[in-house]
Amino acid sequence: MTNLRERLLMDPGWCFYLGDLRTGPAINHADTYGAVKAGKAGGPAAPGFDDGAWRALDLPHDFVLEQPFDPAGNVSHGFKNGAVGWYRKSFDLPAEDLGKRLWIEFDGVFRNCTVWLNGYILGRHESGYTSFCFDLTDAANYGGRNVLVVRVDATEFEGWWYEGGGIYRHVWLSKMTPVHVGHWGVFASPELNDDLSAANVNLTTTVVNDGDAEAAATITSTVIGPDGQTIGSATSEHALPAGASAEVAQVVAVASPVLWDITNPAMYRVVTTVTCGDVSDTVETPFGIRHIRFDPSAGFMLNGRVVKLYGTCNHQDHAGVGIAVPDAVQRYRIARLQAMGSNAYRCAHNPPAAELLDACDEMGMLVMDESRHLSSAPWNMADLESMIRRDRNHPCIIMWSMANEEPAQSTEEGTRIVRSMIAFTKRLDPTRPTITAMHGNWGGPFSLAHDLQGCNYSFGNFDEYHQSHPEHPILGSEQSSALTTRGIYLTDAAQGYMSAYDVNAPDWGALAEAAWKPIADRPFMAGTFIWTGFDYRGEPTPYEWPCVSSHFGIMDTCGYPKDNFFYYRARWSGETVLHLLPHWTWPGREGEAIPVWAHTNCEEVELFLNGQSLGRRTLEPNSHLEWEVPYEPGVLLAKGYNGGAEVATATVEATGPARQLRLTPHVPTVAADGEDVCVITCSIHDAEGRVMPIADDHVTFSVSDNASILGVGNGDPTAKEDDRANHRRAFNGLCQALVQSRRGQAGTITVTATAPGLLPATLEVEARAVAPRPYMP
Ligand code: GAL
Repeated sequence: MTNLRERLLMDPGWCFYLGDLRTGPAINHADTYGAVKAGKAGGPAAPGFDDGAWRALDLPHDFVLEQPFDPAGNVSHGFKNGAVGWYRKSFDLPAEDLGKRLWIEFDGVFRNCTVWLNGYILGRHESGYTSFCFDLTDAANYGGRNVLVVRVDATEFEGWWYEGGGIYRHVWLSKMTPVHVGHWGVFASPELNDDLSAANVNLTTTVVNDGDAEAAATITSTVIGPDGQTIGSATSEHALPAGASAEVAQVVAVASPVLWDITNPAMYRVVTTVTCGDVSDTVETPFGIRHIRFDPSAGFMLNGRVVKLYGTCNHQDHAGVGIAVPDAVQRYRIARLQAMGSNAYRCAHNPPAAELLDACDEMGMLVMDESRHLSSAPWNMADLESMIRRDRNHPCIIMWSMANEEPAQSTEEGTRIVRSMIAFTKRLDPTRPTITAMHGNWGGPFSLAHDLQGCNYSFGNFDEYHQSHPEHPILGSEQSSALTTRGIYLTDAAQGYMSAYDVNAPDWGALAEAAWKPIADRPFMAGTFIWTGFDYRGEPTPYEWPCVSSHFGIMDTCGYPKDNFFYYRARWSGETVLHLLPHWTWPGREGEAIPVWAHTNCEEVELFLNGQSLGRRTLEPNSHLEWEVPYEPGVLLAKGYNGGAEVATATVEATGPARQLRLTPHVPTVAADGEDVCVITCSIHDAEGRVMPIADDHVTFSVSDNASILGVGNGDPTAKEDDRANHRRAFNGLCQALVQSRRGQAGTITVTATAPGLLPATLEVEARAVAPRPYMP
């Protein structure tokens, strides 16, 4: 028996053209007549088109990132204009593929694309956020060359933040036997008994007969445990007429399951095999076994215990790469949030890359997955279906969000629409609660159509809501929107910077402290999602040009912490935290009173300047401590006490001038698979090795030939330098380079950073030899 299923990564080897081109010259009648016939698409969609002058690149790719900033451009989109771009990829298919079923799967294209194969239109997809799949079996050229062409039109937008443009997530080619598992065709839905000691894994498998004769198919589902051991399997026989599909229900019992948890994210998988004659189709689906419940009084319960949601909302872009975020950078970002103690992630305001959810599954991060649009029209129901079918096996997802802040939350039509969306969601996944992030009309018919009440801002109304709707579980679906810039301690509107003391919030929002306290104090509040974990491009509120990125992040666009990171870490991480701000390098401000804050969870903190005590203060719960300190260079030292015993110290020291660079990798090694990325921080230090907190030296990176620099960033919300360069100005002491391995080039990657007048730094990162994922060159 031969398993015919293959899944090839189609990211390498594309040609790209920025700008629009016609698919048919359409000048004379004969050309016009010809260009509209099947398989005869013209211009760049024609297989024979000469793309020799186009740019060669690998996916994922964000072409809007590569556009210049335009001061007259859209503020919300970060002053980058959308555009049309064309992609072409040529590849061979062996003659033996004839008779198989072939799909091309796009994880995400922003947006509005048309896809051709060999001059035949395979399909169109409008949403920039949902994954989609086209069948190319009929249009393929077996035993020869095939040309896949994608026209991407990112001139219109779907949101009010930077959205990018291009084929920015992975593309896959799947091959399989005509009788096969359907697309996203396995739903593994575990059901635990009351004491969580045993589970039945309910398996629904869509089996499709694309052949031209009735088929007798055998469907076997085998559940494999986190330790790789087979736990059990179920087998069913099905007679499928030609062209038919069937949903096959099976159950596999799991005794004493290892529960997926944020502390132990244990993953199971089901191996599904559809056999017909001597060929079969095998797919593997990871899933987890866990129990979730939202209690209107106690909040969110995971596996029977209360877990307060320490969440952040996030858009999908990262410094240097825009929306084309490599899988390794998804994991980096989740790890940065976890370093703050965060346990929950809201995909604002759209379905994310599948790999972000994989990272959340594997690393133990809870997720609110969100549909982009509020609509029950067929186009949006298809997008909703895409989100739920693709994502419903991820144990990390604990709720489906229908929408965010829709004016229709207050209308009858809106209520009908969301009810239709919820009913459809429940048909596809009856196991998870629904929510909409609402900025008003809580308790109205729209709100009550959902299992959960999602509250955006308006924290003064939690008690009233809980009293009037004691049966409706409630959480902060979006809170705070505090405004800060990393390493800046004086708000400067002309420069576009907000002070990093927790002192700025828009009038609809609240400071970090003010937003957290009402959640912390109320057990019935299941938790919160802070706007946002990371800064993102666009929406530079409260400023416009020269700002191009937001100030809402607890971290900047590179994932470097602003001071509020330590406020949350002190509340969320369970670790002893003592963090002082600001930095202590203020030449010219001698004698001036400077506010010194401590973000801490120590009961008391004593502050010293150059050995002299400035007083011991007692922390109010969920608050911070403050001193006014006349500036003199030297050392600020804080000592933290619990029960009178010293448990932590923190220092900030005045630094000398910038003297040397230092490079720090986020991981010591990478896989030499052409995909893995090392996030490298370049920090600027004085002669004593202290980070120089206001250094803005211009750093140039170089890497050995076995790697490449994907992009650079520095977290400055006003930075308008090229992200896809090998050099970057540091912002308040730091900048970042994303270094990617090359496929098959194991060995030492050497990274060097230089800056005029400073001692350079060199770093070695080992690229491990690994088998790359199967791919189409
Ligand atoms: C919210 C909105 C977010 C973001 C935020 C800024 O109202 O849902 O997308 O715009 O405001 O504070």
